[in-house]
Amino acid sequence: MRKLIHLSDLHFGRIDKRRVQPLLDAIKNIKPDLVVISGDLTQRATKEEFMEAKKFIEDIKFPTFIVPGNHDISLYNIFTRMFAPFRNYKKYISNDLDPLYVDKEIALIGINSVNRFNLTSGRISKKQIKEIGAHIKGLNPALIKIAVCHHPFDIPPVTKEHPHIHKVVARSKMAIKNLAQHKVDIFLSGHLHVHYITDTTIRYKIKGYKGLLIQAGTAISNRERGEPVSFNVLNIDGNNLTIDHYAGNFTDSYFTNMQSEKFLHTGEGWVKQQK
Ligand SMILES: [Fe+2]
Ligand SMILES: [Fe+2]
Repeated sequence: MRKLIHLSDLHFGRIDKRRVQPLLDAIKNIKPDLVVISGDLTQRATKEEFMEAKKFIEDIKFPTFIVPGNHDISLYNIFTRMFAPFRNYKKYISNDLDPLYVDKEIALIGINSVNRFNLTSGRISKKQIKEIGAHIKGLNPALIKIAVCHHPFDIPPVTKEHPHIHKVVARSKMAIKNLAQHKVDIFLSGHLHVHYITDTTIRYKIKGYKGLLIQAGTAISNRERGEPVSFNVLNIDGNNLTIDHYAGNFTDSYFTNMQSEKFLHTGEGWVKQQK
C-alpha cells in the first residue's frame, strides 16, 4: 500500500497565503508516503520565490518528488533563460531535473518537459525517452510505474477557453508509444490548473495499452481557471487504485475530499469501478 499526494502549480509569487497552512495541515493528516509536485513551483523563478518554495517543501515533513515547470525558469532574463535556465531551481530545489524513485511497490519516473525556447509549451526529447526506457528496463515488472511530467498528455475540454495552454506536451505521441512498451501505468501532470482524469486510449490508440492520465489543479495559487484550488491523493494497493480529489473553496482556505474514484488494474489496463 502506498499513499501519494499529487500537488502541482504552487506558483510562489502568486500564492494565496491563506491556503498554505491548511495545505500543510491536510498533508499532515493524510500522512502520505511521498508528496509529488509536478512543476511550476514559482511564478517568475526568482531567488525569493524559490526560497519560499524551499521553505514550503521543508515544512511538508514527508519525502518529496519534484519536477520543474515552465515557470521555474527565468522569463525576463534571456541570458539566464538560454544558458543557465535551471540555476535557481538547482540551487534551491534539486540538482536532479529527471528524478527517479523506486521502492518495493512503486517506481516514479520524472520527466523534465520545460522548453527554454517556448514560454508556455513543453517538450520531451528522444534522448530523455531513451534514458527513461533504460531505467525502467532494470526495474521489477511488478512495480506500479508512475511518470511525472509538468506538461499534460491530454487536455480537458474546459481549457479551450485558454488557447495558449490548450496543448499537449510536444512529442507526446512518441513518448506515450515508448512508455507504453515499458508498461508505465500512470502519468501525473499539471500546468493546466484544472483537475482531470482520463486515460491514454482517447488520444493515443495503442493496442492492449491503457495508462491513466491524472491532472492536478493548482494547489495554493490565485491563478485558478474556473475551479477551486485542489490536489489529488493516490492510494495504491496492489491492483487497486483510489484517487481522492481534495478541493478548497474559492474564498475559504480549507481542503476537503470532494470525490473518490476507484480503478482496478487488469491485463488491459485500468478499469474504472462503479461505486
Ligand atoms: Fe502553472
Ligand atoms: Fe506551467
